[in-house]
Amino acid sequence: MYRIQIPATSANLGAGFDALGLALSYYNYVEIEESDTVDIKSLDDTAIPEDESNLVYESAKTLYDICGKPLKGLKIRQENNIPMARGLGSSSACIIAGLVGANTLMKEPLSLDDLVNLSAQIEGHPDNTAPALLGGIVTAVFDGKNVHWVKQEVFTTLKFVVVIPDFELKTEKARACLPKEISHKDAVYNLSRAALFSASLLTGKYENLRTAVDDRLHQPYRMELIPHAAEVFDTAYSLGAYASYISGAGPSLMAIVDNDNRFFCGKMRFALDRMGLKSWQVHELHIDNIGTRII
Ligand code: HSE
Repeated sequence: MYRIQIPATSANLGAGFDALGLALSYYNYVEIEESDTVDIKSLDDTAIPEDESNLVYESAKTLYDICGKPLKGLKIRQENNIPMARGLGSSSACIIAGLVGANTLMKEPLSLDDLVNLSAQIEGHPDNTAPALLGGIVTAVFDGKNVHWVKQEVFTTLKFVVVIPDFELKTEKARACLPKEISHKDAVYNLSRAALFSASLLTGKYENLRTAVDDRLHQPYRMELIPHAAEVFDTAYSLGAYASYISGAGPSLMAIVDNDNRFFCGKMRFALDRMGLKSWQVHELHIDNIGTRII
């Protein structure tokens, strides 16, 4: 039985649509071992498929198939802390858990690069899967088959304060509202900011982050799917956040905050309560530089 810890992820980071993502200190845990039957259970009150359609199982089975190893079944126990369909990489966490679990059970036939590629092929884009596996901030280009990536560890005390709405937003819906084409000017607007984000985060030029998270590819369209998003962003900035952006496809909203801004979380909680959003959660997270590991 192996126990795997998989971090949540925040993709896009504003302008880096489908290209940038980072891992956060918020974890799912999956226990996995070979079994004669398909035996899947949730260890908390999260409802998960308990048959072969379970994403952890499906991903593990894909790897067994690739390696040509027959699989009778798997015993899987899941502790799901990362909320589903909230823009925090819950499905990537399942995919990575299945792939890393199967790879470990088979004594690592696939390399790290193979796992990065396979996870992106399953998910369709690499900006959650790659940081979930690798940790840190990952810059990734997916050419449809392979992922060309760089993982960088981020040595910072910055807080990533996530505001999690009480409703789901499926990635398919959040992608369906995006325009098919954009202007040359908007392309330049985004690529310059995506590059600025990584460089600024890694060198400590945090005053650039507010400009860096602005984008014209997805957030203006997705804001309409997330009631109160504009108010939450305004609140984050009025409380001194360096930057605030939609995490992944949403609906979670991220604020990047200096470690010295000690009461940010409490003040955000208070502001949400006053907006009538008592059921929305607030968590203070940090960048996870390790990624998925067997514990
Ligand atoms: N880059 C993706 C999107 C992340 O924004 O749709 C969600 O998986």
